[in-house]
Amino acid sequence: MFTAAKPKLNPYEIPSDLFGAIKELKQELNAVILAHYYQEADIQDIADYLGDSLGLSQQAANTDAEVIVFAGVHFMAETAKILNPDKLVLLPDLEAGCSLADSCPADDFRAFKAQHPDHIVISYINCTAEIKALSDIICTSSNAVKIVQQIPQAQPIIFAPDRNLGRYVSEQTGRDLVLWDGSCIVHETFSEKRMIELKVEHPSAEIIAHPECEPPLLRHADFIGSTTALLNYAQQSSSDKFIVATEPGIIHQMEKAAPERQFIPAPGMNNCACNECPYMRLNTLEKLYLAMKNKTPEITLPEEIRVRALKPIQRMLAMS
Ligand code: 13P
Ligand code: SF4
Repeated sequence: MFTAAKPKLNPYEIPSDLFGAIKELKQELNAVILAHYYQEADIQDIADYLGDSLGLSQQAANTDAEVIVFAGVHFMAETAKILNPDKLVLLPDLEAGCSLADSCPADDFRAFKAQHPDHIVISYINCTAEIKALSDIICTSSNAVKIVQQIPQAQPIIFAPDRNLGRYVSEQTGRDLVLWDGSCIVHETFSEKRMIELKVEHPSAEIIAHPECEPPLLRHADFIGSTTALLNYAQQSSSDKFIVATEPGIIHQMEKAAPERQFIPAPGMNNCACNECPYMRLNTLEKLYLAMKNKTPEITLPEEIRVRALKPIQRMLAMS
């Protein structure tokens, strides 16, 4: 007897109403979508929570959801997993890494740390779980100054992996920090010369910059802060025009929050689009949907590293 073959389900099929399908899956999975400001606009618009690295880790630490869909880069989703070992943590694209995290390999850092045995290690959250496990306290760009200020003056400090944030924190606190020589490919791409040309073209514009930028660029900034701090500043300042020296994904939120103001992305060298983070931009709304539908790619990490990496993150959360 002839029996009709069952239609094959295509695990990669994309529905026409992606927003609707993601909302349904969110309910089905009891999932929360956490997104960073550098994600594409559609992802920002569908997220349950949008924030900077500190806000995202605070949300991850407090969520009741069973599944965390992390629209950001690997170290951010990994932090969520360190805080939530029993939850499923999904990252739409596992290749969404970070040049700053890559600039600090664990073996090299272990040797560096051994050269400074009396120092404590404060690491920027943009690092791997292995580096977190070698650290005493984690910080983000929004709490780095506050955390260093809480360390007794006599206690020497290694600051890793971002030399630019480290230099900025050192200037703000007056502390002599031993810096790991890492940097972010996005924030070091801004051109000081083109920034000055832009400022001449728009003399009333304020320059707002992320502390991962190189010192020559930061010297021109009217305000320096984390992505959330830049967003808040853009709403509170009396200026109506801003040159934004960080990944331009955040301009979507700035325009939503202050539609009457103008936001100009700071220029990279040679008219390139290299001020867009190539890792953040690997995530798309389609990949986010597929990750939820197929419950993969999932973040996993060895329990021994997770347990050691948890302590410095908890210290950060308590000190913030
Ligand atoms: P924030 O701490 O502002 O979220 O910065 C994260 C980041 O990756 C900057 O490049
Ligand atoms: Fe990493 Fe730089 Fe991308 Fe931030 S912008 S995720 S620091 S590569």
